[in-house]
Amino acid sequence: MANKNLNQAKNAKKDEFYTQLVDIENELRHYKAHFKGKTVLCNCDDPRVSNFFHYFSYNFEQLGLKKLITTCYKNQNRDLFSQNDAEQAIWLEYFGDRNGNRVPDPEEIGIHYFKGDGDFRSQECIELLKEADIVVTNPPFSLFREYVAQLIKYEKKFVIVGHQNAIKYKEIFPLIKENKIWLGYGFKGGAGHFISKYEDTATAGDHRKGMIRVSGVTWFTNLEIQKRLEDLILYKKYNSDEYLKFENYDAINVDKTSDIPADYDGVMGVPITFMDKYNPNQFEIIGLGVANLGLECGIQPYKPEHKKYRKEIQKRGTVDGDLYMMVDGEVTVPYTRILIRRRQTNPKPVSYEIGELPVSMAAEAIAP
Ligand SMILES: C[S@@+](CC[C@H](N)C(=O)[O-])C[C@H]1O[C@@H](n2cnc3c(N)ncnc32)[C@H](O)[C@@H]1O
Repeated sequence: MANKNLNQAKNAKKDEFYTQLVDIENELRHYKAHFKGKTVLCNCDDPRVSNFFHYFSYNFEQLGLKKLITTCYKNQNRDLFSQNDAEQAIWLEYFGDRNGNRVPDPEEIGIHYFKGDGDFRSQECIELLKEADIVVTNPPFSLFREYVAQLIKYEKKFVIVGHQNAIKYKEIFPLIKENKIWLGYGFKGGAGHFISKYEDTATAGDHRKGMIRVSGVTWFTNLEIQKRLEDLILYKKYNSDEYLKFENYDAINVDKTSDIPADYDGVMGVPITFMDKYNPNQFEIIGLGVANLGLECGIQPYKPEHKKYRKEIQKRGTVDGDLYMMVDGEVTVPYTRILIRRRQTNPKPVSYEIGELPVSMAAEAIAP
């Protein structure tokens, strides 16, 4: 029990960091056409510290929003970690600038009290979710699976921050494979600096005061963006010496996304960072080369003659369903690989409604 509490406390602490305004601006500038006439919900956002509230309230008119709702979570472990000193969780609604001074004034913001703690899973919050068109926030990473499942269940559009490791979650990968979720533009250099009062013990380099650096952080979305329609340009030619075949699946190993051979038509195992460049009209996702998801997409368990390596393999935490190859007679397990294949013929283009198109494409689509 004590351990459980400690773990919860650790997770709560890890979840308490705040997104910088500049990072929100950098990402959301690619989605502007989507927001017109829409109700936006930020449902993990204390408006006193959330730059999501700041961004949407100050850009309300520019984006043409209909309504902004922000909910604030009253942490159960408030004595330990919460920044919040109010007794109750609250939610705010904002309908835009009423007095013409172009800033959100306190009297223009409706403050409401929750009966409960403002947990995004509570019925009160779900009622607000139902009202929303687009959800935008940086949710608690420790609840990412549940958070995304809820967005999918209520068929919401979203732009949210998450860790790229979530691509590998058994609950998230199928959504990626089915093109129900994809990656947004992301953070510069694949790492973000977030505002935090907790000391960053994990990273020594690139330290900024009052911030933690989170490497591998990215944006997940189901809104159309231009980036997703751009072909990845490939320069390398296939040769069997450089691109080893996996021992337990008919595919080649590719160590870097930029090394994907232009002339290979079979299945390729590429690093998960490929998702950042993924265009569903160019490639098809076949599966993930890890554990049960691997077995599900046809990756064979370790061959009997390779079981003798099992002890060594297990030491590295790998299991049946993981891809492996033989290098100089040794079983070699690469980092996580996504199995992809180039689309062969003229693929049926992914189609969008005009309202969902990136700005430049929407303009083209409605041009006479
Ligand atoms: C990573 S922080 C990001 C905060 C804010 N969205 C931002 O980016 O500045 C995640 C936030 O979710 C809140 N939170 C944790 N559990 C929650 C829950 N069950 N329901 C709603 N919010 C929760 C935390 O208190 C924390 O402030």
